[in-house]
Amino acid sequence: MAGTAVLLHGCQRPAPPPPPPAPPPYNVSLSMKELMGHVVDPGAWAFWRASGTVTTETGEQSLTPTTEQGWETAESGAAQIAEAGNLLLLPGRKRDDGDWATFARTLSRQGLEAKAAVEARDTRRMFESGAAIYQTCTGCHAKYVMPYLPPPSGKPTPLPDWPGDVKARQQRFQSQGKPAT
Ligand code: HEC
Repeated sequence: MAGTAVLLHGCQRPAPPPPPPAPPPYNVSLSMKELMGHVVDPGAWAFWRASGTVTTETGEQSLTPTTEQGWETAESGAAQIAEAGNLLLLPGRKRDDGDWATFARTLSRQGLEAKAAVEARDTRRMFESGAAIYQTCTGCHAKYVMPYLPPPSGKPTPLPDWPGDVKARQQRFQSQGKPAT
């Protein structure tokens, strides 16, 4: 009986306060410009610099790595490209579920293909995946950057607006100095 009484008493207690909101799962405070300039672009160049040829005063020179470290750098670049695709899909970064998401997923797939080409030491495959990656970079820029570049004269045109829920989180972050939740 005592047990029942305790149970009943327990039932009458006011509901416990809701748990504090979970911390945000991601930190996307690096701007797109910084993500591109410090993560995506260096990764892509680490890979691109390791295939094809350059013409110099002394003739044509192969860019194929000649040292273990050179191969490692190329592989790291490819891995960075693959993961960059995921970073572009994070809430707060992803612009839409259409072309943006497709470009980002394509980048990941191509980065993994590029990595496999390095592991196989297949220089032709590396060159081809480098070209394919380049098309994805320029494809996304053609759709999401070029039309919004500042005209030769006049005020810059902003990039397409973020989805409403993303914008609200960003504004909350800016006004409260708290991470977006
Ligand atoms: C899903 C879309 C998307 C993909 C894919 C993408 N970018 Fe970008 N990139 C952007 C956007 C948007 C900007 C403009 C950022 C800004 O200034 O707000 C940008 C800007 C840049 C910039 C200029 C940064 C600066 O300092 O102004 C570089 C460099 C760049 N991207 C490199 C790359 C490379 C290299 C790749 C491919 C490996 C790539 N991007 C793939 C969307 C993309």
